[in-house]
Amino acid sequence: MGQTDEINDYKLGYHVTPPKGLLNDPNGLVHFKGVYHVFFQWNQTDTTHQSKSWGHVTTKDFIQWKSYKPALEPTDWYDKDGCYSGSAVVFNEEIYLFYTGNVRGENGERFSYQCLAVSKDGNYFEKKGPVLEHPIKGYTAHVRDPKVWQGKAGKWWMVLGAQKENLVGDALIYQSNNLVNWTLVGPLLDEPLSLGYMWECPDILRFADTDIFSFSPQGLEVEGEKYRNIYQSGYFTGHFTENGIFKKNAQDFKELDHGFEFYAPQTFVDDVGRTILYGWVGVMDPKVEAAVPTRKQGWLHALTIPREVRYENRKLTQYPLSEIANLRETSPIIIESSQNEVIKLPSLQQDILIEWSSVAPDFVINLRNEIEICYQSKTKKLSITRTNWKTSIREERATFLTHELTELRLLVESSLLELFLNHGEEVFTLRYFVDETDYLFSFKNLGEPMEKRMMLYTLRSFEIEE
Ligand code: FRU
Repeated sequence: MGQTDEINDYKLGYHVTPPKGLLNDPNGLVHFKGVYHVFFQWNQTDTTHQSKSWGHVTTKDFIQWKSYKPALEPTDWYDKDGCYSGSAVVFNEEIYLFYTGNVRGENGERFSYQCLAVSKDGNYFEKKGPVLEHPIKGYTAHVRDPKVWQGKAGKWWMVLGAQKENLVGDALIYQSNNLVNWTLVGPLLDEPLSLGYMWECPDILRFADTDIFSFSPQGLEVEGEKYRNIYQSGYFTGHFTENGIFKKNAQDFKELDHGFEFYAPQTFVDDVGRTILYGWVGVMDPKVEAAVPTRKQGWLHALTIPREVRYENRKLTQYPLSEIANLRETSPIIIESSQNEVIKLPSLQQDILIEWSSVAPDFVINLRNEIEICYQSKTKKLSITRTNWKTSIREERATFLTHELTELRLLVESSLLELFLNHGEEVFTLRYFVDETDYLFSFKNLGEPMEKRMMLYTLRSFEIEE
């Protein structure tokens, strides 16, 4: 795992990364017999998007981890070109994994099989083969990423990302009573939408009186500060009816993260009822991905930290799972003042919290002479700027907060940042690559200074048992 005093190795200490090769989407998240299972898309041999397996790690406390052999590998006719993304449920004391078998024909044509694998012990997964026939009328072979859950009336549901024949993204819903025989219900949404050419990694999140349909559309056009990455992830609020229809509220597609690389999130509900999200950090333009410095060390990409998702007072929030605080070393640096501050960070693994006694003034935070976080209180605009490691151009992502800023939490790693605003009302995730070794962190008021409390905790690395 990452040693913070190793200069420029960009390793990460408290994010899931592949030991080597390329990691992408989180898959199969499930809490089984007291153990959290985290799977991920994994090219075990090199840092390209070929030949995906399901990597597998587990934890009971999000601090000590165990690494397993891959749960699924592309060894059968129905998944020979990749065991693509999918999800997990527990049924009859077994884990049921659903995933997409990706197959390319002789002339490169695509076949997608939605497949099942079952495990009694959470270690060995027995493949049961395809459970669905594709393609269906009116849709292309781009149909993948099954997310399965049990509805309120006990029925099982599966939502799939899909593409219509007119090259518009969509989601399909299936129903089952036994997880093996599935019946197509139809499109998930009650009214068709034109939002990009393909929807990947669909998910349904259920809260007390609102449901969320989250998905990752490809092909959205930039709109002001929105949709500036290559692909996006976001959601609609609404209601999932027990007829298998998601009735969406009248509102725009809202991005889950405003940073640079967040993509393909998946959620699950754990045994204590928390909705937990992992995302991939992440999706990049292929040329930018090819230039990521960690490729020289033979590995690429990471998962986000686990985030607890809540929907309260008509607001979706994502906040670091409470267990992340158990990685904090004791004795944080605590500064209570209204002044500017320059701090030499004791290490590159930090959990930095800033709370204003009333509301935040205009300010700029600088991290390692590379990252700038700017806030304009008048417009409530929060922006983050970094240098693109491929083009050396400074680039910015921004959003406008709904409420005035009162709290900020920044999780720092040597080459990854997760920024949570107002207890997770908005989030920014990004990679960054910089050689600066002084580890400087500064806070500068740009307007009338306001009383604030800053707490900087050093975070330990995960412990991983192979
Ligand atoms: C999203 C995605 C999924 C697919 C997987 C393949 O990043 O393209 O749609 O199942 O990655 O690795």
